Amino acid sequence: MTSYKIAVVNGDGIGHEIVPMGVEVLKAAAEKFGFDLDTTEYAYGAGYYLEHGDFMAETGLEDLKNFDGILFGAVGLPAVDDTLPFKLFTNKVRTAFKQYVNYRPVKLLDGIDSPLRTKTQKDIDFVVIRENNEGEFVQNGRQMYPDEPYGFATDTSLFTRPGIERIAHYAFKLAQKRRKKVTNVTKSNTMINTLAYWDRVIAEVAEHYPDVQYGKMYIDAATANFVLRPELFDVVLTTNMLGDILSDLGGAIMGSLGFGPSGNINPEKNFPSMFEPIHGSAPDIAGKGIANPIGQIWSGAIMLEHIGETAAAEAIVKAINATTAQGILTGDAGGKNSTTEVAQAIIENLKG
Ligand SMILES: NC(=O)c1ccc[n+]([C@@H]2O[C@H](COP(=O)([O-])OP(=O)(O)OC[C@H]3O[C@@H](n4cnc5c(N)ncnc54)[C@H](O)[C@@H]3O)[C@@H](O)[C@H]2O)c1
Repeated sequence: MTSYKIAVVNGDGIGHEIVPMGVEVLKAAAEKFGFDLDTTEYAYGAGYYLEHGDFMAETGLEDLKNFDGILFGAVGLPAVDDTLPFKLFTNKVRTAFKQYVNYRPVKLLDGIDSPLRTKTQKDIDFVVIRENNEGEFVQNGRQMYPDEPYGFATDTSLFTRPGIERIAHYAFKLAQKRRKKVTNVTKSNTMINTLAYWDRVIAEVAEHYPDVQYGKMYIDAATANFVLRPELFDVVLTTNMLGDILSDLGGAIMGSLGFGPSGNINPEKNFPSMFEPIHGSAPDIAGKGIANPIGQIWSGAIMLEHIGETAAAEAIVKAINATTAQGILTGDAGGKNSTTEVAQAIIENLKG
């Protein structure tokens, strides 16, 4: 029997409630489809930081490197400086493991009404491909004299030709398997150096994919179109920060941030990829048993797809849709069910 080694990082807040549900669903899928998941938990995150002074052990990256995949919740706690979770955990893993693709599907689930009154499932079905290692989030800058009247701060974005080329190739190849359309969401009319270069390199890559329709749209117009005409999009290719913001809007048009899944993917599989919901640790609802587990569970399905268990991945997504169609939903999505009830219903539907 094929066995996969999976690292499990609950992180903080609702991570402790939704990640275990994600593991249960994955194990049910493994049993049904005849493979094994060998899971190892790591208590990393802001809670770990409060005890140990860092978000992971010194050997953390070395340890995680040996897995086939990492299932992750989210990190961050009100008691911890919120500039640290991204720097000391999320971005550290994403860059160390060259997870340069952030893959974020936006798809209206069965039985869910989008807050967009006139839009249905045929209108809301696209993927945001966010560049995940460079751009605005490289944390290349400094604050000087912050307490003085002459204080200043800088953050310099970084865009490299190989960095743009690899994410663009990924997006075009993905589009070839979908509706063959890539929209580059940019802001090159004002970011006339970095994003003009981003556009130029993407346009060059587009030449290699004559079967894919390519166009660019400014982020301001794209945000309006996510709401007014989401049917325009198939593969949205965008930068680290623009993609971060835009994909939360994607979650919102799906009916809840709690539905949104993602994969931080190293397409070459030289390192493990990491799968997490698009939302954060939601400390405002942590411990209440009401968090929506669907973004987490769907992220687990994307992990299975990445490691090659496609049938199991598809079965999980189908079971999620069967569950939402039955109206078994948490409060954020207009339902009355608990985190566990939603996850158990997904498992029942999966077992069929
Ligand atoms: N990748 C990550 O680890 C990651 C990503 C984003 C934010 N964060 C961290 O999470 C913490 C909280 O950040 P925030 O409040 O801005 O964003 P958040 O996404 O945690 O929460 C925003 C709102 O959405 C709700 N929400 C989020 N997920 C939900 C779910 N599954 N079910 C129901 N409701 C849900 C929350 O209750 C909250 O009202 C911060 O410390 C932040 O840095 C971590």
